[in-house]
Amino acid sequence: MLQLGSITIEVPFVQAALSGYSDLPMRRLARCFGATYTLNEVMLDKLVVQPGKHRREMLSVTADDHPVGGQLMGADPVVFAQAAFDLAQAGYDVIDINFGCPVKKVLGRCRGGFLLSEPKTAIEIVKRVYDAVGATHPVTAKMRRGMDDEQESEHNFFTILDAALAIGVSAVTVHGRTVEQRYVGPSRWEFLSQVKRHVGDIPILGSGDLFTAEDCIRMMEITGVDGVTIARGCIGNPWIFEECLALQRGDALPEPPSIAAQREGILIHWYDALEVYGRDSAHKIMRKFGIKYSEMHPSHLDVRDAFIRARSAEEFEDVLDQWYDPSVDWPPVSRRTSPGDLIAAGATLCDVE
Ligand SMILES: Cc1cc2nc3c(=O)[nH]c(=O)nc-3n(C[C@H](O)[C@H](O)[C@H](O)COP(=O)(O)O)c2cc1C
Repeated sequence: MLQLGSITIEVPFVQAALSGYSDLPMRRLARCFGATYTLNEVMLDKLVVQPGKHRREMLSVTADDHPVGGQLMGADPVVFAQAAFDLAQAGYDVIDINFGCPVKKVLGRCRGGFLLSEPKTAIEIVKRVYDAVGATHPVTAKMRRGMDDEQESEHNFFTILDAALAIGVSAVTVHGRTVEQRYVGPSRWEFLSQVKRHVGDIPILGSGDLFTAEDCIRMMEITGVDGVTIARGCIGNPWIFEECLALQRGDALPEPPSIAAQREGILIHWYDALEVYGRDSAHKIMRKFGIKYSEMHPSHLDVRDAFIRARSAEEFEDVLDQWYDPSVDWPPVSRRTSPGDLIAAGATLCDVE
């Protein structure tokens, strides 16, 4: 169990905020497979407060999507706090502050990971957000371990962390890579141990290099973090949540999902995408997920190409009928163990504007 302020999360395996991915259908799917807490894609504060289509979309929270974290990114503490208030009013259960996004455009606009080098502004954002919503909603933060490997970056990290906890932040997610690293090179799990020792009982969620259920359990055991946020490891692989739960219970790792099970999982995702985006658009949104799903298919490259070529809902369904036909005697399925190729999958990496 994971305690985020007043909210009890039954399962410590969380679906991470994933720009371009963790939309309503992906969050519902993660819940189907055992995640009880999920986060929306990061939202830009300016777009939340500005009347229009983006605001309407971002402020729509459905009754079956709880508890859900609304993650915000911004540079101006006043706008940030207004956006946090709006998200809380709209029904988000937790407000998460992004101090981690490494995308060049985001850094250039003094948002996301940039704020790790500006403790004064970062702390002012936390304070304003807490003042705006802290009485009714848990406020959490997502931080990378620093801007770079310099000593000053580590010092800034702990300055922001300590201030955020003193203000009243309920939990912090720490990604063990620096902003400079982006997604290259290993996530430094020892840093997570250091943070956990530093904060004592305050919940810390770990992030970075969680591609299998064993990785998730290992991170919790090695570092002492209270939970994990699964990111690249759950795109096109919702089975990772039930695998984590099996290992947590002490059961053996389930067999990798058969083609029939994969078909069933993708269909849940697909029908939901149809409901949310409509028949004209669902296949466009689902293409990048299809590419990720294909990684667990014995004919990976053919299936991946078929998903890329699908130009309509009918063609998307044809791919499922041809490549996920449960009556065919498919070769054995292997579990996914690596991040896979996100660029081919159309990653947007916090590309929020
Ligand atoms: C495509 C993509 C989009 C992401 N979007 C967000 C985001 O919106 N908010 C956030 O805090 N982190 C975001 N992240 C970072 C992940 O949540 C996670 O911290 C990071 O990928 C490290 O975990 P991993 O190595 O297990 O993937 C994103 C990562 C990827 C790959």
